[in-house]
Amino acid sequence: MFHPSLFKGMNVVVTGAGRGIGLEVARLFLDCGAHVLLHAGRAPQGGKPDFLQAAIEEARAHLVYGDFLTDQGIADVLRRADSLFEQVDVLINNAGTMVGRFPAGELTDDQYETVVQLNQTSVVEITRALLPQLRRSTQGAIVNTVSISAITGGSTGSAIYSATKAFVATYSKALARELAPDGIRVNCVSPGTITTDFHERYSTPEKLEATRKSIPLQRLGTPEDCAPAYLFLASSVLSGYITGQVLEVNGGQLIC
Ligand SMILES: NC(=O)c1ccc[n+]([C@@H]2O[C@H](COP(=O)([O-])OP(=O)(O)OC[C@H]3O[C@@H](n4cnc5c(N)ncnc54)[C@H](OP(=O)(O)O)[C@@H]3O)[C@@H](O)[C@H]2O)c1
Repeated sequence: MFHPSLFKGMNVVVTGAGRGIGLEVARLFLDCGAHVLLHAGRAPQGGKPDFLQAAIEEARAHLVYGDFLTDQGIADVLRRADSLFEQVDVLINNAGTMVGRFPAGELTDDQYETVVQLNQTSVVEITRALLPQLRRSTQGAIVNTVSISAITGGSTGSAIYSATKAFVATYSKALARELAPDGIRVNCVSPGTITTDFHERYSTPEKLEATRKSIPLQRLGTPEDCAPAYLFLASSVLSGYITGQVLEVNGGQLIC
C-alpha cells in the first residue's frame, strides 16, 4: 500500500496499540520500515500477532504497558520512550475509550474525571513530555485520534467523551501553529463508527445496524479503513504541507 521504506529508520510512538485502530496503525508503520514503540493499557490475554512477534525479534517493535488513569502508567511509557529513542519522528496519540455511557444528570465526579483523564489529559501529558524528542526530528509529526462525535456531539451518554475529543481537535490546531517553527506538523484522524472492541462494549447490534444503514457507503468502518490516514498525515513526503487539520474517516457518515 505504502512504500516499504517510507518510514525507514524513523522512530514512532503509538499509544493504544494493543488492539483496534492503534494496532493496525502500528502494523503499517512496521511494514514501512519504522521502529515502533507500541503502548497498550494492559498486557493482552492471548499471544501476539505474528507480524508483531517477528518485529519484536528484529528489535523494531517494542511493547510497553501503562494505565493512563495513573501517573505511574504514563511515567512508565515515557520512561520507555526515553530509553529507546533519543529522537521521536512520529507520535500517534490514540489511546482512549468511552469508558461508559453516562446520562448527564447521573454522571459522577469519578466518571467525569476518568473520561477526561484518559481521553484528554493524557494526550496533553504525553505530548508535552515527548516534545524535546520530537524537536530533534527534521520531519516531526503528531497525529491525534479524535472522533466524529467531536463534531456531532455523539449519542446519548457520551457527552463528556465527545467533548474530550473536541478538546483534542482544538488543542491539535493550536499546537500546529505553535510547533510549526520547530518543523513539527500536528493533525488529527477522526474515525466514524469503526468495528473494534470499542463498540462491542458501548453499542448494541441494533444501534450499529441502524448506523450502518445511515452511512452513504452502507457499511461500518474497520481499523484497516482508518490506519492509512495516520501514515499519510505522519509522512512529510505525502502531507508535508498539511498541518492543523482533522481528516474525517467515516464512509460519508458526516458530510459538512
Ligand atoms: N471504534 C470507533 O468507532 C471509534 C470512533 C471514533 C474514535 N475512536 C477512538 O479511536 C481510538 C482507538 O479506539 P478503538 O476503536 O481502536 O478501541 P479499542 O479497540 O478499544 O482500543 C483502545 C486502545 O486504548 C487503550 N486504552 C483503553 N483504556 C486505557 C487506559 N486506561 N490506559 C491506557 N490505554 C488505554 C487500549 O488498551 P488495552 O488494549 O490494553 O485495553 C487499546 O489499546 C480511541 O481513542 C477511540 O476513542 C474510536
